[in-house]
Amino acid sequence: MSNLGPVVRRGFATEQIHGAELATPTSGVPTPHGSRIPPIHLTAGFVFDDVDQAQARFRGEDDGYVYTRMGNPTNADVEARIAGLEGGKSALLLATGQAATSVATLGIVGAGDHIVASGHLYEGTRGFFQDNLGRLGVSVDFVDDPTDLTAWAAAIRPETRLLFAESISNPTAIVLDIAAIARIAERNAIPLVVDNTLATPYLLRPLEHGAHIVVHSASKFLSGHGQALGGVVVDGGSFDWSRGDRFRHLTEPDRALGGASFVERFGSGAFTAYTRGVVAGRFGPSPSPFNAFLVRQGIETLSLRMERHCANALAIATWLQKQPEVSLVRYPGLDGQSPVRVRRYLPRGAGSVFSFELRGGAPAAADFIHSLTLFSHMSHLGDVRSLVLHPESTSHVARSEAERHAVGITPGLVRLSVGIEDVSDLIADLDRGLDALHTSAATTSLRSAPAVQIA
Ligand SMILES: Cc1ncc(COP(=O)(O)O)c(C=O)c1O
Repeated sequence: MSNLGPVVRRGFATEQIHGAELATPTSGVPTPHGSRIPPIHLTAGFVFDDVDQAQARFRGEDDGYVYTRMGNPTNADVEARIAGLEGGKSALLLATGQAATSVATLGIVGAGDHIVASGHLYEGTRGFFQDNLGRLGVSVDFVDDPTDLTAWAAAIRPETRLLFAESISNPTAIVLDIAAIARIAERNAIPLVVDNTLATPYLLRPLEHGAHIVVHSASKFLSGHGQALGGVVVDGGSFDWSRGDRFRHLTEPDRALGGASFVERFGSGAFTAYTRGVVAGRFGPSPSPFNAFLVRQGIETLSLRMERHCANALAIATWLQKQPEVSLVRYPGLDGQSPVRVRRYLPRGAGSVFSFELRGGAPAAADFIHSLTLFSHMSHLGDVRSLVLHPESTSHVARSEAERHAVGITPGLVRLSVGIEDVSDLIADLDRGLDALHTSAATTSLRSAPAVQIA
């Protein structure tokens, strides 16, 4: 199941709608009856023509389909589309973003290996590295300040096999210096994996800056409407797995491939072939083709949504900065992060997930959130709807106060995922939240909120 994505040559908006289908008229996806939109291939498996074909497929010598856990035409269409948008060589679609991170990581590390990761990570990723991989004999060190290049280099040990960071961190919106960290990775012959969920390929393409592998939660901006879970691993095809003789699962003869190694059989597609067949194929977090279809639909409007998300977020961050109740707005470009770095990596906009700090601490954060009527209080992000969360009492509740402090999760910190509604309505809602901080009855206002008038 080859899913080589096209190199992005056309404009982004054209690519996100047409993907590979202009490059190859049938795009490998049969469209019976001339259906313009490819059908959803809701099937567990695929019929073989004969035993020779079946054997060739099991040996990886024929890239036809076998069983949906290993690949499916609807899923493959989304894989090719996202690989193309990221400028990658191949991609693997999975059931969730967590599956993307865990499958990519398990495709690289084994017992005794070590990971260096940014300390500013989605908590699910941090927990996976620390707790789950810890039990399997893989250790991890976190770099508290991901902009500190010396700290990245100093954390690397002889057994380090992977560097991991988010392009824009959740929820602190720190913009990664991908090129600098990729250079450290190259010097040490280890791959850099970047979680590009908050930026999306419309705002930033980590592979172009030297990252080797990109992961996404497609549940966020890619699908965009809060209706489907998904994840994707994109391989840039640029990492040399033979260097240093450290990734033997990819370079040594494999039983299933009739004695060939993954690198020999699949070349620059070796990592995707291994993660598809051996990691995801056996751990089993494959996506439903129905969810793949929903992700595909979302991708078709990604650039338009991201433009509006970014414009709304910038307007809101700028407005919040002027409010007396707010002590800090952590929006890239506004909060003292290097403007050169922000402009270099995010010339089209700085995303729409960021946090800000209320002077009144946790009680103020609770009153503020309870007073909002347009922002939904939930732990999701990257939705067309605007969402709000208090990280200290939710995503980061299991961390000690010292750990939270180290990564800037203060009691008064509020995370926003700014949607694409009319920005004047969003600002009016946030204004109502700040007003509520001056009245003692604020926490009851959620129940007594007036009906929303749609303009
Ligand atoms: C940056 C980031 N990566 C990965 C994930 C995990 O994605 P999913 O919820 O699709 O498993 C999330 C979820 O919030 C996230 O914010």
